[in-house]
Amino acid sequence: MINVAIVGASGYTGGELLRFLKYHPRVEVVAVTSRQYAGIPVRKVHPHLHEVDLTFENHSPADIDADLVFTATPHGTSMKIVPELVDRGLKVVDLSGDYRFDDISLYEKCYDLKHIHPMEAVYGLPEINRNKIKEADLVANPGCFPTGAILASLPLVKEAIAEKIIIDSKTGVSGAGIKPTDVTHFPNCSDNVIPYAVTTHRHMPEIQEKLRNYGKVNVSFTPHLVPVIRGILTTVHCFPIQEVTPQEMWEIYIETYQNEPFVDVLELGEIPRVSAVRGSNHCHIGCFEIDENGRLVLISAIDNLVKGASGQAVHNMNLMCGFTETMSLEGVGLHP
Ligand SMILES: NC(=O)c1ccc[n+]([C@@H]2O[C@H](COP(=O)([O-])OP(=O)(O)OC[C@H]3O[C@@H](n4cnc5c(N)ncnc54)[C@H](OP(=O)(O)O)[C@@H]3O)[C@@H](O)[C@H]2O)c1
Repeated sequence: MINVAIVGASGYTGGELLRFLKYHPRVEVVAVTSRQYAGIPVRKVHPHLHEVDLTFENHSPADIDADLVFTATPHGTSMKIVPELVDRGLKVVDLSGDYRFDDISLYEKCYDLKHIHPMEAVYGLPEINRNKIKEADLVANPGCFPTGAILASLPLVKEAIAEKIIIDSKTGVSGAGIKPTDVTHFPNCSDNVIPYAVTTHRHMPEIQEKLRNYGKVNVSFTPHLVPVIRGILTTVHCFPIQEVTPQEMWEIYIETYQNEPFVDVLELGEIPRVSAVRGSNHCHIGCFEIDENGRLVLISAIDNLVKGASGQAVHNMNLMCGFTETMSLEGVGLHP
């Protein structure tokens, strides 16, 4: 049994962490922090967690007594909390962007922020870093778009099938966090599709940095906000630089992910849907089509709050603590 704390537990990813940890047989959640809800029971903020008998507290990092801490806090905040926890010997899974980059100058450029405390961290995408995660004290949980985009593109880069990749993602509104904004206000985002950070989204450098560990590649990325609550559908377009058929592509993907418990390569031509993975830690990948002009298309679907955040964070915790890696993440999606 380990004791776990969640910093930033009043947010969406904090709520999802609590949902998965509630039935984890090897975990006891001993502290949940929130500044604005200190003294308030968890169920008042997360109504689906009615049976969670915990109350938010406004702990500082020095007060947290646990074996492992999830920091589900915004970028710029995590870097003020994580170093003290790691220095005190606690394991940490950080859900923000603060520890994802190998190149700190790239982080500072795309987040427009000086990093006050860089530390060595393992990028927590189990499909590429499983063994390193098992040894890590600090895991940087990947971004939601990068999770779906990297998993859909990795075999293309590893097998040198494409050097230029165009990634188009559609995301649900929960990706923006719990605080309402002008963009996420219902009349503005419902019945609408809104492209944003069209050529400058900060997840592009993250995707590119990680894929470049496997080959030469340039990544172009554009996200769109769509009127769903959860889910990211990512369409990857490329023009292969070697002869390849849809059948061969499919076999490469099947082989790459055959032992991955949370990556499901669909049947050739089968189209992934966000409803099939909603609420689950699975990534569906499919649609290996090549059009008459030679464009190859791949599509991935994830739940941004689960495989794109808290489910993956629990997967990382399982690896870091030597638990069965699928523990408490076995649930399937919530279709329809
Ligand atoms: N939403 C997603 O789909 C998603 C996916 C992947 C990664 N992420 C990343 O995960 C992190 C959390 O995202 P989220 O969507 O859960 O955000 P959120 O819903 O806005 O929640 C953020 C939490 O952080 C706490 N917080 C904010 N500022 C803080 C500060 N200065 N000190 C201490 N606590 C602070 C807030 O609690 P109080 O204000 O009550 O203290 C709140 O509980 C972010 O870094 C985000 O980029 C999110």
